Amino acid sequence: MAKLLIVYHSQSGNTLKLARAVKEGAERGGVKVIFKKAYSATLKELLSADGYCFGTPDYFSYMAGALKDFFDRTCYPAEGKITGRPYVGFVSHGGGGAATASLRRMAKRFKLKPAAPLLSVEGNPKKADLEKARLLGEKLAKRIKS
Ligand SMILES: Cc1cc2nc3c(=O)[nH]c(=O)nc-3n(C[C@H](O)[C@H](O)[C@H](O)COP(=O)(O)O)c2cc1C
Repeated sequence: MAKLLIVYHSQSGNTLKLARAVKEGAERGGVKVIFKKAYSATLKELLSADGYCFGTPDYFSYMAGALKDFFDRTCYPAEGKITGRPYVGFVSHGGGGAATASLRRMAKRFKLKPAAPLLSVEGNPKKADLEKARLLGEKLAKRIKS
């Protein structure tokens, strides 16, 4: 079964809610989901997944340090091994949301292909935001399986 790795960080729960919604959508789309908080996500999980979702709060207009740590740990050992795999991502923010640029840049560094535009959500996700996150997961699942 095709595998999606969701890596996220969250302190007060907003990003977690979105990550869970992506998971629901991806499972609806028929892929196996590995759901990891960034500090505990591993290189092995990165290498063995067919696609990725990265979720982060906006911290000082950048991705969370925890997610950056995951990329720092895996960048060299994953070099050339995951090229071209699809990804989606989302940012939870408090009114800014500039962290999307850092996420996009990082995915480019890993030579991943966007399966959809990044989702950007302010504050506590509303019903419509969660549905958008589910659709993101579903879309990525379809891409992984194709
Ligand atoms: C240390 C810190 C820095 C933050 N910096 C920004 C920022 O630069 N721009 C912004 O829009 N929100 C900023 N926020 C707000 C968070 O991005 C926002 O509350 C987010 O929804 C938190 O996600 P969480 O509930 O998953 O932890 C910051 C929050 C913290 C704790």
